[in-house]
Amino acid sequence: MKLKPNARFSTVCLHAGQEPDPSTGAIITPIYQTSTYVQDELGKHKGFEYGRTQNPTRLALERNVAAIESGKAAFAFASGMAAIGAIATLLQSGDHVVVSDNTYGGTFRLFERVLRKSGLCFSYVDTSKLDLVEKAITPATKMLFVETPTNPIMTLTDLRQAADLAHGHGLRLVVDNTFASPYVQRPVEFGADLVTHSTTKYLNGHSDSVGGVVIAVRDEDIEWLKFVQNAEGAILGPFDSWLVLRGTKTLPVRMAVHNANGLALAEFLAAHRKVKKVYYPGLPSHPQHALARRQMHGFGGMLAFELGSLEAARTVLNGVRLHALAESLGGVETLISHPATMTHASVPADRRSALGISDGLVRISAGIEDIDDLREDLEQALERV
Ligand SMILES: Cc1ncc(COP(=O)(O)O)c(C=O)c1O
Repeated sequence: MKLKPNARFSTVCLHAGQEPDPSTGAIITPIYQTSTYVQDELGKHKGFEYGRTQNPTRLALERNVAAIESGKAAFAFASGMAAIGAIATLLQSGDHVVVSDNTYGGTFRLFERVLRKSGLCFSYVDTSKLDLVEKAITPATKMLFVETPTNPIMTLTDLRQAADLAHGHGLRLVVDNTFASPYVQRPVEFGADLVTHSTTKYLNGHSDSVGGVVIAVRDEDIEWLKFVQNAEGAILGPFDSWLVLRGTKTLPVRMAVHNANGLALAEFLAAHRKVKKVYYPGLPSHPQHALARRQMHGFGGMLAFELGSLEAARTVLNGVRLHALAESLGGVETLISHPATMTHASVPADRRSALGISDGLVRISAGIEDIDDLREDLEQALERV
């Protein structure tokens, strides 16, 4: 099994980073559940010394995800937040970062409550408007940190223009690609320097593992991330690495259904008389639909809709039977949630309302169930409003 350099996306997902196990021929990379490795003689080993520093299952996953995201190397961490924390170690006290204003609440919390204490500072800007990004850049700015689409309002940033702007000012462009997945968009191909994922979501895809990954292209970043992964030690364990590696094999087939179900639910909700507004880049009514068509392959499985009041949102959230009321996203099961009190509860109320995250907003992560069952479930819940 040798991958040709021009292997297509689904072939890369299935095979990159994995060779049949050298000792048995096992087609699946084993879970190397070991803390240490026996050395052949003093100073001579097989490339593996200690479980925090190297693990063959983690290495297979890292090579797999690097290839999937068109990067040079990848590093797997214990969670998506640990991965973003590792990226922040590329910065020094006094450095400034421009961040998408609608970024994941946990990222905002890490930046504001933890990293500010170490002298980093952050400006939150609508990165869909690159003139605002340019205005926010100061001599201390070192990084542009972008989420596209944003959670849960689904605002897009033009990745190619963002990369050009960042590079014109000597900044790294970092993209949190969790929401889209590399099936839908690969930021490195638009010029991003670093890409991060919560593997908890689409990459693993089965709601049974928490993890994160950073994909890098610059040699100096690769060297530093390898060092810091070992130095801080927030590594992804062998079993979780194995689960994510199993998940990426089916990423293309899962994503095709997530895309189809996401679009079908968005269309259904947009036509529903109880729904005030739908946020989904695949709808022609989305203000950045043309950009979505250029930048994305399908429009993903995430959507949000406005019901106008907390009461209406509560009725739908408590009324669904098949949609599971839960945080998180990107799994095969459809999840429904209330951003204002769940994923974005740590974002101050005034910031939430400025971002459009109202009390009547409901978010859906479309799974891969039969679309008619999903529509029927939403219909009966909306009837109660
Ligand atoms: C866009 C995004 N980035 C990062 C994270 C953090 O990932 P984790 O929960 O694996 O730490 C999340 C979690 O929901 C997310 O939605």
